[in-house]
Amino acid sequence: MTAPPAGFAGRIVRWQRIHGRNSLPWQGTRDPYRVWLSEIMLQQTQVATVLDYYARFLDRFSNVRALAAADLDEVYALWSGLGYYSRARNLHRCACEVVSAHGGEFPRRAQVLETLPGIGRSTAAAIAALCFGERAAILDGNVKRVLTRVLGFDADLAGAAGQRELWSQAQALLPRRALQEAMPRYTQGLMDLGATLCLPRQPHCLLCPVSRLCVARRQGDVESYPVKTRKLKRSAQSLWLLQARTDDGSVWLEKRPATGIWAGLYCLPVFESRDALSDAVPPPARPRLRDEAPFMHVLTHKDLYLHPVAARIGPRAMKHAQGGWFGVEELPRLGLPAPVRRLLAP
Ligand code: ADE
Repeated sequence: MTAPPAGFAGRIVRWQRIHGRNSLPWQGTRDPYRVWLSEIMLQQTQVATVLDYYARFLDRFSNVRALAAADLDEVYALWSGLGYYSRARNLHRCACEVVSAHGGEFPRRAQVLETLPGIGRSTAAAIAALCFGERAAILDGNVKRVLTRVLGFDADLAGAAGQRELWSQAQALLPRRALQEAMPRYTQGLMDLGATLCLPRQPHCLLCPVSRLCVARRQGDVESYPVKTRKLKRSAQSLWLLQARTDDGSVWLEKRPATGIWAGLYCLPVFESRDALSDAVPPPARPRLRDEAPFMHVLTHKDLYLHPVAARIGPRAMKHAQGGWFGVEELPRLGLPAPVRRLLAP
């Protein structure tokens, strides 16, 4: 690896002005509430998916006080379908903390932002740089790809030492002048470059503003960066979903525990085996259980094979279980896992 290339930040800033993304709804504002909300939504979700959710969320909660005052269930309902529901829980906790500990104003410094729920080091830096021009480095997955390539950084990012070194390189590359204008542009520019040109496979090096500085390109081996040895192993799991309905079409839903899959959401009762599901149904209803077509739902680290089992049950029969009957008209207001919402769609 070589010394940080001169002129890197300026090229990113100039490229962003002309070729970067400049009309996304969370741009053109320095309101930390809006920027924070977008950064949390964008953490594991594509821009195209976030757009609708972002608009609906702001419609309902136009500022951090409105969000802090909301019921967590309503936050979950607006988040339903975005996945990674711990983000929604932390979003609400963060809003409450901004109100209770910071008088309703987001802190301006990355170091303080990072103490809030759900805000990691890179997100804290993004908010501080985009809203307040702080000289703080972001380093999400896309940016790691850009920087390891430009620098020819070949230390293993699966280890803490490699990560630490890359953070310090990222800090050294930041703009040094006109920070109020340069830091937002530079920060957005790095994200844009990672999302549009410096792709994992077949990057568009011919269009890249830093290709002449790029060590990986000079080596002719761009795709071998970033170097990461530890691969996440994917797993698979089968789950059985009890779809109990009354004659009038109400469906039985339970609130998921606060941790684990679909934490905090309303859901059909979930079982790890067909027998366990059957045992949970009142005996008279068991002969009338109907197995429906299983389907797969892909989570980041796991393929879920979901097996819906339908049952007609009298409204009182489920009375010992933890849950309630919900009419179809109530479903849109509830936070439901996306595959369950699809399953229950009329
Ligand atoms: N991904 C994370 N932050 C982003 C942003 N501000 N714009 C576009 N994509 C992003």
